Amino acid sequence: MSDSRYRVGIVGATWIAVRRTGPPPPPFRNDIGNAISLSHAATLQAMPNLELAAVCDLIPELLDDFKTTWANELPNANTYTDYREMLANENLDVLVVATSDNRHTDIVVDGAEAGVKGILCEKPLATSLEDADRMIRVCGELGVPLHVNHNRRWNPLMHMVRDKIRSGAIGALGSIVVSHGGPRAMLFRSGTHMIDAICFFAESEPARVVGMLEDGYDDWDRYRGDGGRLPENDPSASGMILFENGIRVLYDGSKDTILSSDFMRLRGSEGEISFNLDARGPAVVRKYDADARVPITHTLHPVQYQVQGLAATYTELIDVIENGGTGVSTAAEARKTLQIMLGFLKSHQQGSRLTDVPS
Ligand SMILES: NC(=O)c1ccc[n+]([C@@H]2O[C@H](COP(=O)([O-])OP(=O)(O)OC[C@H]3O[C@@H](n4cnc5c(N)ncnc54)[C@H](O)[C@@H]3O)[C@@H](O)[C@H]2O)c1
Repeated sequence: MSDSRYRVGIVGATWIAVRRTGPPPPPFRNDIGNAISLSHAATLQAMPNLELAAVCDLIPELLDDFKTTWANELPNANTYTDYREMLANENLDVLVVATSDNRHTDIVVDGAEAGVKGILCEKPLATSLEDADRMIRVCGELGVPLHVNHNRRWNPLMHMVRDKIRSGAIGALGSIVVSHGGPRAMLFRSGTHMIDAICFFAESEPARVVGMLEDGYDDWDRYRGDGGRLPENDPSASGMILFENGIRVLYDGSKDTILSSDFMRLRGSEGEISFNLDARGPAVVRKYDADARVPITHTLHPVQYQVQGLAATYTELIDVIENGGTGVSTAAEARKTLQIMLGFLKSHQQGSRLTDVPS
């Protein structure tokens, strides 16, 4: 990252955007390290090359709360109720879009057209492929990197596991099993993280799916983006995913199971790797001897880097702005997850038939 200071504006001022977490006790610093559970504002105020210049929300009370909460660290951040006014006034370099799931598109497009250099959009990228494609097209034409905060992609263990698979440690990857539990195991709000993790490892295009929604959602043919506070506005789902490279996936999302059941198992022709999808580790690697059928087991413990979590998300975005290249969580990658989730809805509508994902 260069010495330039980047001006950042956030649209949407709820907890993921501006929450304050307590400082760690001495001698630990409130540094830019493992910021995965921190908000955007908490991360930005600790990063020397990024300046949170402005925050926008339709609800003035949230802006008042933001000003009060961050009065010491961010006294100069301006607040707006109209994001277009913020874009016009603030000469922003980076735009963060943290509005409801169905309200990302206009803000991303207007931000790119206003001249921001890079955009970080909250997950899921959108609730329809039309919206996703409009963002991807406009940002692509204007050369504005558009990254999506599927935050497990900036977790070291995810990369250690993928590197292990790429090195052939379990042979050819053929099957992925994921379970996702807890009362907020909603498909779009939270399942998007799990399905994105599946795409991260499958490294292929989704082709076909079978989807079955939670009981009581037989008429649920689209997600309206309002699942946030109300799990009943976004059902859980179970399903199968077939990728073009032949990898098969079983995804089991259930609100009725325990919260800590977010589990992934990746099976290859010679072994398997399993870990909890909070990605705090360790991951267990089992390599099988074909004759003895006795696994040789070892564990992968996540390396702790000084910059990871949301701090890595921002560091990478600035690097892509300055030097080009492709980030780990592009909008094109996030589009695959949207195809799969919409495919689950489509399949359920057809009596859980095997169906092509919408393209
Ligand atoms: N990455 C993560 O782990 C994570 C965690 C939580 C939420 N999220 C994502 O962050 C986003 C926000 O989540 P939420 O639960 O706070 O959503 P929410 O719907 O509860 O709140 C969104 C906020 O955006 C504001 N808003 C909507 N349209 C606006 C506009 N045009 N201009 C200004 N403000 C506008 C609303 O007033 C509201 O305060 C969602 O996309 C959600 O999926 C991500």
